[in-house]
Amino acid sequence: MTDYYSQLTAHNDFVTETTGNRPCFFIRTYGCQMNSRDSENLAGLLIQMGYAKADSQENADLVVYNTCCVRESAENKIFGHLSRTKNIKETKRPNMIIAVGGCMSQQAEIAKDIQTRHPYIDIVFGTSNRHYLPDYIWTAIKTGKQVVDISEKVDLPEPDSALVTTRDYPHKAGVNIMYGCDNFCSFCIVPYVRGRERSRDYKDVLQEIEALAADGVKEIMLLGQNVNSYKSSDNVDFPTLLYHVNKIKHLERIRFMTSHPKDLSDNLIIAIRDLDKVCKSVHLPLQSGSTKVLTDMNRHYTQDMYLDITRRLQEAIPSIAITTDIIVGYPGETDQDFENTLDVVRKVRFSSAFTFIYSKRSGTPAAERTDIIPREISNQRFERLTATLYPIMEDINKNKIGKILPVMIEEVSNTTCKGRTDDNTLVHVICKEGTISPGQVVFVKIVLAKSFYVSGTCINIPPKDIQ
Ligand code: SAH
Ligand code: SF4
Ligand code: F3S
Repeated sequence: MTDYYSQLTAHNDFVTETTGNRPCFFIRTYGCQMNSRDSENLAGLLIQMGYAKADSQENADLVVYNTCCVRESAENKIFGHLSRTKNIKETKRPNMIIAVGGCMSQQAEIAKDIQTRHPYIDIVFGTSNRHYLPDYIWTAIKTGKQVVDISEKVDLPEPDSALVTTRDYPHKAGVNIMYGCDNFCSFCIVPYVRGRERSRDYKDVLQEIEALAADGVKEIMLLGQNVNSYKSSDNVDFPTLLYHVNKIKHLERIRFMTSHPKDLSDNLIIAIRDLDKVCKSVHLPLQSGSTKVLTDMNRHYTQDMYLDITRRLQEAIPSIAITTDIIVGYPGETDQDFENTLDVVRKVRFSSAFTFIYSKRSGTPAAERTDIIPREISNQRFERLTATLYPIMEDINKNKIGKILPVMIEEVSNTTCKGRTDDNTLVHVICKEGTISPGQVVFVKIVLAKSFYVSGTCINIPPKDIQ
């Protein structure tokens, strides 16, 4: 660690020496909340090096892409955006350093492709070596040559414990409790680009959250690809971790994602039910409602098991909002398999869902399959899936009309603000200009409901008078 900080100081001297005034960075983040958290870490590193945050890439000396490769569309989007950054570099900022890191560049063939076909990219790094970015910048500036390193670095603690960081929001923060994934769902690239599952020490996690709460953070999101399999070295499991986190002063809301259905325990249901700060919402990816497809996907649960878990959650916590991820068009998915997915959607009544058309990821077992579903059929299934989901979501939201709900404000703009209820419903809040700020909990009378949000008026009622 000492070594690491002395390296940073060396960088700092170098940057200020060569550029004269403070150089600026801009980070573009793609993918999941864990990637957003990584970007906050990267920003912390760059600030420590002596960089300042730029408001756009047009004004940046260093542009960092923190990439995702979970679906082909994510990769295409990134390469599209990169060509714009290239254009800025070529026409306006010839000394701009472009760094591409994260999940997409962790794939050896992509790193190779960038090396051979995209010479304007100065740095390529991966997921486990992202805390070496200062080194790579240093080398790129010094040598003027492209730096490519996606090797696994095991000689440093995970960035969260080791590094200073920044935060994108004043009132909420993501906290990694584990890294990587061991589940190898047949369609998924994540275990290949994020490495094996590692749980953080629970005391380390608690320390980080205590510091965040002391710094004004009201809501935290505990992050992991499968938080239900969290196990610290001294055998603290996920429900136990929640009990500890619930005790942290000044913290108001605890969320977590993602939960793998195969590992959702009764103890977790009890913890969600009993702990006052734990929000009554669970993101529980279904992927498919067909037991045959679930087996093919290596998900380790059946349709019945999924229905049983969601029933137990709903019985124990009647106000719980269950959200999900669903893939249509997985290889070999028949009409009947798809009907089974719709059945589960109707039975569980999801509050919200991320829906995806299967995307082939090379290197995964599913990519070997030849019984590919034609795009036209996948598109039709996708349409039918959303046509089934959205009215249910709207119906669930309509039940909120007339109710007065506590809403934590997230974004403030002129006269309309956005916030979230305990069960994670997005609320558009009509309020007087300048009266509320992010992190504040206000009471909102709901007057309108749509599939993806509700809206209402902020009312000034002290909490004790709310029934
Ligand atoms: N760890 C989480 C999911 C992380 S990826 C979990 O297991 O629940 C987020 C979502 O992307 C997945 O739940 C899945 O629905 C979707 N996804 C992953 N790989 C995909 C692929 N190859 N094609 C389409 N969707 C995919
Ligand atoms: Fe991917 Fe499955 Fe791991 Fe989630 S649990 S990240 S879907 S392999
Ligand atoms: Fe994407 Fe990597 Fe997250 S592939 S979804 S950014 S773990």
